[in-house]
Amino acid sequence: MITFDLHYHPNVCRVSPSVRQRRLLKHASHIRTVGVDYLACTEHAYKNPLDGYRFLRDALGPYSNTTLIPGVECISREGVDIIFLFRRESDLEDYVRHVRPFSWTVTDMEKMARDFNAITVVPHPFSPGKTGLAKVMGLETYYQVTEKAHYVEVHNSASHLMKRFARKKFAKQFDTIQKQIAWTMDLPHEYRMDGVGWAVGSDVHFPGQQFYIGAADVAMQPGEDWFDLLKGRIKFEPVETEALDMSLGMEYRCLIKNSRCVLSESTIKAHKRAKRWIRRSLSDFAAKQAA
Ligand SMILES: [Fe+2]
Repeated sequence: MITFDLHYHPNVCRVSPSVRQRRLLKHASHIRTVGVDYLACTEHAYKNPLDGYRFLRDALGPYSNTTLIPGVECISREGVDIIFLFRRESDLEDYVRHVRPFSWTVTDMEKMARDFNAITVVPHPFSPGKTGLAKVMGLETYYQVTEKAHYVEVHNSASHLMKRFARKKFAKQFDTIQKQIAWTMDLPHEYRMDGVGWAVGSDVHFPGQQFYIGAADVAMQPGEDWFDLLKGRIKFEPVETEALDMSLGMEYRCLIKNSRCVLSESTIKAHKRAKRWIRRSLSDFAAKQAA
């Protein structure tokens, strides 16, 4: 049995050095407790993913039982999240140097994966947020893009807290949100395609929230590494971790912290997207004037 968490955010961008240090120590301690074999560090493209990876790698140290995978959760022009995983840190470095957030479209995903030798994951396609492929682009595009991905995220733990919250009586009337949360926790089989692997991601933004990790009964062949193994499009199943044993008070504290984080990420995204739009409009205008 081998375990992978294919979606994890160190979330140490734009915080003071002391907060960063404390958060990284806690990440390392929780990751050690959970004991996942492979962990993909997939910081958002607009939150210095390379720094995030290096900070978390250093916090885990050279003797960690968990292998850290360099990755990024990149955002397309349409506002859709796609995860890219790389074999080496230098591949992530190369990607970050050449690809800006909001500068590509979801149909570029396959070519980008080829160009940068990356494994692709379509995360939380029906997420209650505004970055899920199916939710933003509709089912037709979802099928077109996802069939070319290595993985679709069939379980995302970040919705675990929301799931509990949405069960409370004052949220019960929001059937659509409940459905989106349920489908983010467990993607219905009709949206899983033949030949596309099943990814499990905790989508952690704060230490101690790695509620589920992915497990599969597979083994590496001689001469293979984790990258070759993942290319085999494995069907991971979610497995509970100790982090699930959380008091109700702690759950509410986590929900508040996560909501603040979502709000700040939305603000950064809106700002970066607007800047990119203005720059593109100005260059289109200049091109028209010159013609
Ligand atoms: Fe994420």
